[in-house]
Amino acid sequence: MTTLRGAVVLVVGASGGLGSRVAALLESSGAVVARSSKSDGYDLREPSVIQAMLDETNAQYGRLDGLVVASGVVAFGAASDLEPATVDELFAVNTTGPIRLITKSQPYLAVSAREGREPFIVTLSGVVAEAPVAGLAAYSASKAGLAAFVVAAAREYRRAGIRIVDARPGHTGTALSEHPIAGTAPRFGAALDPDLVAARIVTAIADGEKDLPSTAF
Ligand SMILES: NC(=O)c1ccc[n+]([C@@H]2O[C@H](COP(=O)([O-])OP(=O)(O)OC[C@H]3O[C@@H](n4cnc5c(N)ncnc54)[C@H](OP(=O)(O)O)[C@@H]3O)[C@@H](O)[C@H]2O)c1
Repeated sequence: MTTLRGAVVLVVGASGGLGSRVAALLESSGAVVARSSKSDGYDLREPSVIQAMLDETNAQYGRLDGLVVASGVVAFGAASDLEPATVDELFAVNTTGPIRLITKSQPYLAVSAREGREPFIVTLSGVVAEAPVAGLAAYSASKAGLAAFVVAAAREYRRAGIRIVDARPGHTGTALSEHPIAGTAPRFGAALDPDLVAARIVTAIADGEKDLPSTAF
C-alpha cells in the first residue's frame, strides 16, 4: 500500500477529463495536489517548462512524492495524409514531454524515497500502445514510444525506490476526441466511464500496482 495522505503529487494535464478526475480523487485520498495544464502556461512543447513546473512544485510544497502525466493530444486520419507538424506535436506532447518529465522528476522522487515515502509516476499511454489502430497511426506510435520508455525506465527507477506505472485504458468518454489536432474522430464503440478509469488509476497508485494494461479497465 502507498500512503497518499500528505503525499505531494503533481498532475500534468489536470484540466483534462482524466487529469481533473485523478487530481480530485488523489485530493480526497489526502494527497496535496499541484495542478498543471497548457492553459496555465505549461505547454509541454516547450522543454524549459518541464523543469520549471517541477521546481515550482518543489518550492511551493517542499517536496515531490508523485507525478501523474495525464496530458495528451490526438490526431485522426490516414497515415499518408499526416502533416509533419501534426506528427511533431503528437510526439512532443505524448512522448518526449512525458519522457522529460520522467527524467527530470527523478532527483525529486529519489529524495522522497530516501525519506521513506513511496514515490510514483503514472503515465497514460492507452490501449493503442498495445494494439495500434488504423487512422491513428501517429497517435498510436507516440503512445507506444512512451509505453516502451516506461517499461525500461521502470526497471531502473525501481532501484531508487521509485515506481512507474503506465495506464493503457481503451477509448474513454472525455472530450479528447472532440478536439483533435488534426482530422475528425471516427464513430467509436462504447466508451469507458472516465470516473471509473480515474478511480482505477488511483486504486493502482494506492495499492502499489506496477502496471495497468488495457485489460485492467
Ligand atoms: N480519452 C481517451 O479515450 C483516452 C484513452 C487512453 C489514454 N488517454 C490518454 O489520457 C490522457 C488524458 O486524456 P483525456 O481524455 O483526459 O484528454 P483531455 O480531456 O483532452 O485532456 C488533455 C489534457 O492534456 C493537456 N494538454 C494538451 N496539449 C498540451 C500541451 N501542449 N502541453 C501541456 N498540456 C497539454 C490539456 O491541457 P489544456 O486543457 O490546458 O489544453 C488537458 O489538460 C492523454 O494522454 C490521452 O492520450 C485517453
